[in-house]
Amino acid sequence: MSRALFGALLFSVAFAAALPAQERLTPEQARGRAESLRAEIAHHDELYFKRSAPEISDAAYDRLKRELAALEREYSALATGDAAPGDDRTGGFPTLRHRTRMLGLAKTYTEAELRAFLAQARRQAGAAAVGFVIEPKFDGLAISVTYERGQLVRAVTRGDGTEGDDVTANFLALCAVPRRLASAVAVPEVIELRGEVFMTYAEFRRINAEAAAAGGEPFAHPRNLAAGTLKQQAAGSPHRQLEVVFYGWGAVEPAALAPASQQDLHRLIRAWGLPGVEDARLGETDDAVWRAVQEFGAKRAKWPFPTDGAVVKVDAVALRSRLGETGDVPRWAVAYKFPPDQAVTRVLGITLQIGRTGALTPVAELEPVKLGGSVIRRVSLHNRDEIARRDIRVGDFVRIEKAGEIIPAVVGVDKDRRPSGAGPFVFPVECPSCRTRLAAEAGVSAVRCPNRACPAQVQRRLEYFASDDCADLAGFGPGVIAKLVDQRLVREPADLFGLEPARLKTTVGEKTAAKLLAAAAQGRAREHWRFVLGLGVAGVGPASAKAVARRFPDLAALSQAATADWLDASGASSRVPGLSDEAARAWAEFLAVPDNRATVERLHAAIHIR
Ligand code: IVH
Repeated sequence: MSRALFGALLFSVAFAAALPAQERLTPEQARGRAESLRAEIAHHDELYFKRSAPEISDAAYDRLKRELAALEREYSALATGDAAPGDDRTGGFPTLRHRTRMLGLAKTYTEAELRAFLAQARRQAGAAAVGFVIEPKFDGLAISVTYERGQLVRAVTRGDGTEGDDVTANFLALCAVPRRLASAVAVPEVIELRGEVFMTYAEFRRINAEAAAAGGEPFAHPRNLAAGTLKQQAAGSPHRQLEVVFYGWGAVEPAALAPASQQDLHRLIRAWGLPGVEDARLGETDDAVWRAVQEFGAKRAKWPFPTDGAVVKVDAVALRSRLGETGDVPRWAVAYKFPPDQAVTRVLGITLQIGRTGALTPVAELEPVKLGGSVIRRVSLHNRDEIARRDIRVGDFVRIEKAGEIIPAVVGVDKDRRPSGAGPFVFPVECPSCRTRLAAEAGVSAVRCPNRACPAQVQRRLEYFASDDCADLAGFGPGVIAKLVDQRLVREPADLFGLEPARLKTTVGEKTAAKLLAAAAQGRAREHWRFVLGLGVAGVGPASAKAVARRFPDLAALSQAATADWLDASGASSRVPGLSDEAARAWAEFLAVPDNRATVERLHAAIHIR
């Protein structure tokens, strides 16, 4: 599918009034473009809402939506009318109806758009003075939490605005939130408090470091991780800390106890002992509102939580009622989205990274470029389908930005600057390391090298086994391991403990050999769970490894475990306390391969030799 994102980018700058003359499309072209935009948006909605694994940044997604909206405005026959925001319901949770509908927010992207909103709100409010409250736009997922007689009884996601997923149990287990309202001020019979569930950057980094140590893909954005965490259903899923902040309300009974203004809400939230918005500002004039928004923009990098904009709300509830709402958004509030940091650079090459489990990840090697305080040299292109879908070629100029301020991603390709000789990237059919024919599973984007003896995989597995988290074999870095693999001295973890001193000496030199032998001798005494982790079973991190180590007290016992020790008769649920169903399945699959079983047995023997 042609994306012409770069064009979209230039295009959206000028979209507000009308399409610039040179951008005018024939009705046929416009229809085609609108159709491909809708398909693309649907594709990203699926990744975002159903799989919590987005491939493009928010800003890139917003641009697609805006380009479609601009096209539909200009060519009104194109509109399908289904502009409703995504539905976060994932299935697997009971559906509950909100007492009062949960609205979304209209978005603005420029100072002019924001000022137009302020002017319109002042006009419609018809009041001499309209005060606005400016809050950070927390980047998580919206939640409605009901307190009855001061007791927390329900937590429900936004869903389609009318009804959402009942996630009360997970919310209580994962979010630090008071279950009772402090009664410093009157507590209503019923109040629906509206807020955002999110994950701090610190927690996000902690979890990503763990995922990396387990050889998994990092999570792209704390928002998606927060959403996935709140909706996780596997018993024994690892604990991940979530936070909540309350910034609004729905139904209140009796109505007399409802907040009279946004500032009043902030006071009540504090008095009830709940987490509220700490950085809210009051703006009486348009200039003051714009200043506050800009200050948030400058400060947000220092906030410990993710934000993607500011929210501007009419303070007084009496004025809000006058303004009302249109469709799914109120006329008394608007979001201003911060522009993302971007850079343009050139793709110097596309390389393939082979992971421990044989998965091939294409990586764009870039001309180094500064972006948001760091120098970017490489960016993941995810998988074969993604390169083809976006038609990224060696020699292309690409626009990159950081998804969630953290992981760089390609958001656009400038096809006008493409060098004449640049052909489409041809994904190899053979593993670049061992020449085995690559395997692609139906319905899965990943392409794998199926050869477990593939030197690149062996290298990755041994690097992982020797790393700090696992056996912690000092001196066994990637360079040393590459030499040992090359000389066929090592193939699997057990080999690292049985190195023959004379051969080792000729391969790495006398001094290094002595160090390696000492490290291996010491490594034998590491805790059992670290060896379990070091086996590198896909998707298994320290928490799962500890659960497995508790159930199977040594590697000999582990190597003899049967499928029935991992999974129940239906093959669906974990039998190992503290281990998720997914991880239990991964272990059962791992040990179903006789070679893997032998690897575990040999490792057991190697670390028990005295
Ligand atoms: S007020 C009727 N305030 O942004 C007003 N929303 O894009 C409803 N959000 O669904 C929302 N921070 O999940 C409000 N300070 C804030 C917010 C905020 C983040 C989210 C919320 C909403 C989305 C709209």
